[in-house]
Amino acid sequence: MRIDQRFDFDVVIVGAGLAGLSSALTIAENHPQLKVAVLSKVHPVRSHSGAAQGGINAAVAADDRWEDHYYDTLKGGWFLADQDAVHLLSENAANAIYTFDRWGAHFDRNPDGTFAQRAFGGQRHNRTCYVADKTGHALLNTLYEQAVHKRVAVFDEWFVCSLIVDDGELLGLLAFSNKTGRLGYFAARAALLATGGAGRVFGQSSNALINTGDGMALAFRAGAALKDIEFFQIHPTGLLNGILITEGARGEGAYLVNKNGERFMQRYAPQFMELAPRDLVSRSIQREINDGRGFEGGYVHLDLRHLGAEKIKERLPQIREIAIYFAGVDPIEQPIPVRPTVHYTMGGVDVNTDCASTIRGLFAAGEASCVSVHGANRLGGNSLLEAMVFGIHTGHTIPAFLANGHQPKRSREEELVDAALADFAALFTGKATETVPVLRNEMETTMVASFGLFRHHDTMESGLQKIADLARRYRSVRVKETNLVFNSELIRALELGFMLDIAHACALASLDRRESRGSHYRDDFPQMDNPNFLRHSLVTRETDGSLKRSQKAVTIVDTQPLDTIKY
Ligand code: FUM
Repeated sequence: MRIDQRFDFDVVIVGAGLAGLSSALTIAENHPQLKVAVLSKVHPVRSHSGAAQGGINAAVAADDRWEDHYYDTLKGGWFLADQDAVHLLSENAANAIYTFDRWGAHFDRNPDGTFAQRAFGGQRHNRTCYVADKTGHALLNTLYEQAVHKRVAVFDEWFVCSLIVDDGELLGLLAFSNKTGRLGYFAARAALLATGGAGRVFGQSSNALINTGDGMALAFRAGAALKDIEFFQIHPTGLLNGILITEGARGEGAYLVNKNGERFMQRYAPQFMELAPRDLVSRSIQREINDGRGFEGGYVHLDLRHLGAEKIKERLPQIREIAIYFAGVDPIEQPIPVRPTVHYTMGGVDVNTDCASTIRGLFAAGEASCVSVHGANRLGGNSLLEAMVFGIHTGHTIPAFLANGHQPKRSREEELVDAALADFAALFTGKATETVPVLRNEMETTMVASFGLFRHHDTMESGLQKIADLARRYRSVRVKETNLVFNSELIRALELGFMLDIAHACALASLDRRESRGSHYRDDFPQMDNPNFLRHSLVTRETDGSLKRSQKAVTIVDTQPLDTIKY
């Protein structure tokens, strides 16, 4: 195999969702001299940001303060988030909303012209700006229009298969075009990974099929650490097939009801009820189901009927459609059957507040990164916000990094690209004794069984052994179709390799954290343990392929972590 074309860019951005395109646009607006390329394995408007429904938190109301958003985010994350990063997130939230407004996003408004805001979980203020229940879709399309307008170079349907790194410094990326089958080497002075999360390692998930942790695994393989990768958020309300029913429904006043007709959240979070943080609501729903108070088939009801037809049609049109098409119920007339569904990866590539990883020239932003603003549990409405704020932020920090004329040393470039090509070619040669669907199915069921809402040493230990075994068996996967054009067999194989890396790191970090915090709840260690575990976990891959675990201090600036979290 050989490279069909070499490209040279100052910055290569991988991922064309909210984080990637915000970064590209910010660079295009402020640093037009920089040559930037955006690579995305799907067309930009198919990015998973477009699936976000309920909204974006920002203290834009006259009677709200970014300092309150800051505190709510820290508490919601069980104080595991870095306070300097959360400061950046909450203080810049309003400006991110204004920037998107300027780019053309049509946020819903109050009759007086101010931004309409709804309630979201774990917050003491109605702080979530929205576009009905299609917020991500509206923002992503706005961004893409702007990217076309500003002539951002987008390579859509290009799949990145490895990073080329020499002595801790990024040189470029190896990628192929799904449409043409051409293999490209993208030499870059800097790269940004904005590839989203890895929720598809679990069988039950609200994530798009594309959310396979590609950027996280690429960075991990190149030597960067995965931080806090044990924390996967499980959203309280998915349909039985995993599709998201927005928290905005509860924000507008919907109730959660068990089979006895009881609003059971009053027993778990009497003050916040259905609008407690997601980790708490999800565990409460699952407890109801496990204790026999759910409906036959394992679900509870999300009841919107009292909101009335007009409000449902105006504020929640998409979830009404989804409920009708995928659950066969019209929420104007019937409650929606819901159960928890894996939704978000709190951990990711370990980066500092400039979004720089430990590999010189390699940055990460949005869900692919762990900067860290969500700690052990993300508040709903902070995910689009993180993508916007840190996407825009990297549009400044990457040019600042390049401003001194940074040029990586390319003496070993050819040799390293050849080695990456040889690894890629090896996927097509030799005898296949394992298949992707079988391994993927086993990975997904193992992750649900061992690393779901309720964790325990014994099930996690057997889960770890199983995932390690799957990683070993993955070496016997081969791709039979050698034509690279729309080769879905190849893409599924590469994605599975990425997901197994993430699953393996998650299993190790979960076993090490002998406490309960946020989304990581252990039956055998049910308490939060600040003295021993108020630390970030790090997992790195050594050159011999073994995985190493370490810890890193949480940045505390001005707020003393609580010892217990109550809502
Ligand atoms: O429930 C939702 O609409 C999801 C929002 C989020 O994850 O931030």
